[in-house]
Amino acid sequence: MKKIVVLISGSGSNLQSIIDACQHHQIDGQIAAVISNKSDAYGLIRAQEAGIPALCVSSKTITDRQAYDAALLDTIEQYQPDLVVLAGFMRILTPDFVKHFTGKMLNIHPSLLPKYPGLHTHRRALENGDKEHGTSVHFVTEELDGGPIILQGHIPVFAQDTEDDLVERVKLQEHLIYPQVIEWFVSERLMMQEGKAVLDGQPLPATGYRAN
Ligand code: GAR
Repeated sequence: MKKIVVLISGSGSNLQSIIDACQHHQIDGQIAAVISNKSDAYGLIRAQEAGIPALCVSSKTITDRQAYDAALLDTIEQYQPDLVVLAGFMRILTPDFVKHFTGKMLNIHPSLLPKYPGLHTHRRALENGDKEHGTSVHFVTEELDGGPIILQGHIPVFAQDTEDDLVERVKLQEHLIYPQVIEWFVSERLMMQEGKAVLDGQPLPATGYRAN
């Protein structure tokens, strides 16, 4: 069975959807460890409750970026994962770290990439009067939130919406699409080839598959 390491920084609701999908055999894989850069991340408790090794590599203790990523890489490699899943891991990774896991690291980003890489995606969608917003799962490359997109979930934006409304609506989509993409990867239907996301032997379009 394929081994997955999940990196988090916060509440871990995406992590929970992945734990649930593994427990219900919707993902034919095993979460070998959950690692947070923050000791108080609620996702660590979710992992413990599911009987998954839960670790903190604290970014408070190791402040140098290269040193942090080297320590993180060592910790991850103890589990020899087939896949590294960033699930709300709120750090920019060094090029060496990204290179090490090229083709086997996924991220979920709360916008319809290539729109709104970086932070405050929901606020930016509201400020721009977008009628549609969403979330993207992509392979991680050295370009911030710029790797090949695999699957996007779309949501409507209504006139009275607040940032919190969008966070909630986007997360509902994330909890559907992230386990789906992880299952594609662990069942070897999905890979990154020549900088493209390839599903069932077919390169995906630039904005990936559309989930809804
Ligand atoms: C998710 O919405 C995810 O898309 C976002 O953080 C949230 C984590 O929620 N990730 C990023 O912004 C990465 N750039 P969770 O901890 O409840 O899964």
